Amino acid sequence: IPVDPFDLVIFGGTGDLAKRKILPGLYRRFLAGQIPSDSAIIGAARADMDDAGFRDLARAAIVEFVAADRIDDTVLAAFIERLSYVSIDAQGSGGWSALKKKMRKNTVRAFYFSVAPSLFGDLAERLHGHGIADEDSRIVVEKPFGRDLASARELNAVLARHFAEGQIYRIDHYLGKETVQNLMAVRFANILFEPLWKSEYVDHVQITVAETVGVDGRGAYYDKSGAMRDMVQNHMMQLLCLIAMEPPYHFDPDAVRDEKLKVIRALDPVLPEDIVRGQYLAGSGQGGYRDHAGDAASRTESYIALKVNISNWRWKGTPFYLRTGKRLRARTSEIAITFREPPHSIFDDAEGWRENVLVIRLQPNEGMNLMVMIKEPGPGGMRLTQVPLDMSFATVLGEEGEDIPDAYERLIMDVIRGNQTLFMRGDEVEAAWAWTDPIIEGWEKRGDRPRGYDPGSSGPEDALMLMHRDGRRWREIRE
Ligand code: BG6
Repeated sequence: IPVDPFDLVIFGGTGDLAKRKILPGLYRRFLAGQIPSDSAIIGAARADMDDAGFRDLARAAIVEFVAADRIDDTVLAAFIERLSYVSIDAQGSGGWSALKKKMRKNTVRAFYFSVAPSLFGDLAERLHGHGIADEDSRIVVEKPFGRDLASARELNAVLARHFAEGQIYRIDHYLGKETVQNLMAVRFANILFEPLWKSEYVDHVQITVAETVGVDGRGAYYDKSGAMRDMVQNHMMQLLCLIAMEPPYHFDPDAVRDEKLKVIRALDPVLPEDIVRGQYLAGSGQGGYRDHAGDAASRTESYIALKVNISNWRWKGTPFYLRTGKRLRARTSEIAITFREPPHSIFDDAEGWRENVLVIRLQPNEGMNLMVMIKEPGPGGMRLTQVPLDMSFATVLGEEGEDIPDAYERLIMDVIRGNQTLFMRGDEVEAAWAWTDPIIEGWEKRGDRPRGYDPGSSGPEDALMLMHRDGRRWREIRE
């Protein structure tokens, strides 16, 4: 379904995110017929460039980052025609009246702040001061949204000076992933799972986001951040919320975000012994984390595993184990819900018994797998064996499943539609930092050092202990 025609201004329009994600994403939605042909996309950045220069840059980025079989020359030419450029001084007055002239009346206006957070205030103020943004305009901001509670509050306050909460779209691209949204469909559109979705029946939950890439090329940013700020405070927290939250009364922005917020507020502080931090070592001809960070003494973690307890009626007694890291064995993200033992076994074959596990694979090979017990075939008596009820979304959805929009594409279309369900609300971000801050402060105070781990491994050995100690095991990291 096409969205309404819009004027989208991309501040930082010549930057990396615009080239890799925003422009290719917009092209793909245009190709899918979702963007009306009278929409306008305006790049705005400091560089002195004309429309033709920006169009060339966009064309090159689209050809580089969109799959070759999706490049249709006629459609691409029509898309490129929608683009124009203004050279703008975010902290001065240059370019603002030119931008104002470009904006049409009675058209949805959206402003993508693909710039350093330190410029958010300047942009908001000028958009407002020059009368470019009205009360229906939307602004889109990216992570990192602050690096602690104080800086996140400051950013929220800066934006709130000129924009209402209903106009601010804070992106966490994990919420735009197809399977992440599927978590809500699986939970709330089936009667099957929800009655069991509580500590009485769930032994524990594992959330894994493993990556094979290192931080090469972005060491300077990453070294000030680390896995806790880069992944846990936002992406992993969102996954945890979607698994743990109460059913919202409606699939509506505030109803969903209210429930997520309650989960974050119910998180217990994490004890130091419930966290393992790691840093990848050099190996297989590649540098280690410290080489990539450019700091031979860096104490920033490229891996983290932690045990999280949620103090509410539903989850008391069911730990959530989270782990994420770079340069691990495989790129895989999944959520595994391990159920408890049946209260009584009528079978003698206690050894054959394994827990029921529901695995939701987020990427790659998106799908669901439910491990169930059956009788081992054959005449050997009642022996038990575990088998998977395995479903790949690509297989069951066939062609429909092929052209799934990527996270950014979907989220940008939601901005145009004015739907905030998949965006983080200011209070949610602040609550997540309020939980994260004492953990990081604790490391700093204690001078905590991450353990080294081999590239291509599953992370530091100590992370195994985190689970062994509780009589549990991590699932294997593999594609
Ligand atoms: C980003 C992080 O937000 O998410 C990166 O800054 C990380 O460090 C990336 O690699 C992971 O996203 P995806 O979509 O590849 O799982």
